[in-house]
Amino acid sequence: MPSDLAVLRASFAVVERRADQLTKYFYAHLFTHNPGIRALFPERMDEQRDRLFGALTQLVLRLTQADRLADYLAALGRDHRKFRVLPEHYPAVGASLVAALRHFSGHSWTPEIEKAWTEAYAVISQAMIEASRAPSAATPRWWQAEVVERRRAAPDLVVLTLAPDRPYPFTAGQYLTLCSPRLPEVWRPYSIACAPRPDRTVELHVRRVPAGLLSTVLVNDVLPGESVRLGPALGVAVLSPGSARPLLAVAGGTGWAQIKSLLEQVALDGGRPTTLHLAARRGGDRYGLPAARQLADRHGWLELVPATYADGGPQRDTSELLREQLRRHRDCSGHDIHLSGPPALAPQLAGQLIGQGARPELIRHDPGPVTFNRARPLTSSEWFLDLRDVAWINRTELG
Ligand SMILES: Cc1cc2nc3c(=O)[nH]c(=O)nc-3n(C[C@H](O)[C@H](O)[C@H](O)COP(=O)(O)OP(=O)(O)OC[C@H]3O[C@@H](n4cnc5c(N)ncnc54)[C@H](O)[C@@H]3O)c2cc1C
Ligand code: HEM
Repeated sequence: MPSDLAVLRASFAVVERRADQLTKYFYAHLFTHNPGIRALFPERMDEQRDRLFGALTQLVLRLTQADRLADYLAALGRDHRKFRVLPEHYPAVGASLVAALRHFSGHSWTPEIEKAWTEAYAVISQAMIEASRAPSAATPRWWQAEVVERRRAAPDLVVLTLAPDRPYPFTAGQYLTLCSPRLPEVWRPYSIACAPRPDRTVELHVRRVPAGLLSTVLVNDVLPGESVRLGPALGVAVLSPGSARPLLAVAGGTGWAQIKSLLEQVALDGGRPTTLHLAARRGGDRYGLPAARQLADRHGWLELVPATYADGGPQRDTSELLREQLRRHRDCSGHDIHLSGPPALAPQLAGQLIGQGARPELIRHDPGPVTFNRARPLTSSEWFLDLRDVAWINRTELG
């Protein structure tokens, strides 16, 4: 497989700039040839809804890291049970992936390239299918959970307490995906904001994003007593097992949720020297400060360093505020480091901390969103391909 990787990468570079059109073609092909599959996806699918397509292409291109991908693919396969995906759906998705790539590659598509993509997709889908078959009867496709408490912590932010209908296994630092019957098939990830509790409840912190589908429903509408669905817990940004190294925890915005869960777990484990940098830029962002102060007051091993500035002062983004504060941090070598916040925060801070001596293998954070290089200029031959249209795509329906 790795020998084909250069072929895959080179062929993807030809079409990457048109990732948006490719995504539309992919879904149009999939739904036209397999009408039954449409019902598995959310009603509204716009430019942002390229989760499946984005993940697929990126995974294929990272196949050299097969060992590291194995656990991820197994978790993804088990997780796909919540979408009601069946093993027989996988060949259909693979066929549409290849059809989309072929269409936008034009004359540069060759039998060798087709073989490389088909084989790579087979490796990935096989790993997912096997994992999806493995769960025991005790592992449901999703957990039904009741909203038992809803507290507004800021005008655009709620703290939800959910009671799953059966034991919900997770490790502090993981996230779950959630779907409300108010928005069928719309699943979004949220960090679990507590360590496992004896009463099985889980806490989430949800901030409303402008025009956000699920966050708006969760912040504005969902009431105690309602049910939601939870997918299995995901994510590997958990505490390093058995580590006694000092901990450096950095949170911005609702990134506090994940860090809170980790700190609760450190407390349950008996504590170890920990420095918490918590960015709280403006009113709503400061919702985590009282709980962080409470933890620091209760546990001598925890030092809280809030990153705030006066209201009315110059507006800086969360990462910038934290970068500035962390620059003053002593040598980071030998620390376990956990970063959590807006998508750009972790990669930016990780780069800086490595420069300050942090060991890359000791830095943990959740994965950021898939991005495509849409900015690459077209070559002259690509220019000819750029306007290729697809008569049978219903563009109104695809947005
Ligand atoms: C691992 C992980 C953990 C997460 N944990 C949390 C958490 O604990 N609390 C929490 O509130 N959110 C968390 N998120 C973000 C969350 O999953 C959703 O992306 C967010 O709630 C928006 O979903 P939506 O359906 O409302 O918006 P969508 O309908 O998906 O998006 C609508 C618009 O908002 C934009 N948008 C999407 N997300 C954001 C964002 N975060 N900031 C600004 N604009 C955005 C989109 O680009 C789009 O233009 C997490 C995400 C990941 C990947
Ligand atoms: C190798 C194959 C596949 C890979 C790598 C893959 C990967 C992914 C990933 C990473 C996501 C985003 C998860 C999330 O946001 O929670 C996703 C979403 C999804 N996948 Fe898959 N998937 C594969 C195959 C399939 C198949 C065969 C189906 C069935 C038709 C399917 C249906 C879905 C659905 C319905 C979603 C949610 C889409 C959305 O929220 O917009 N996937 N997939």
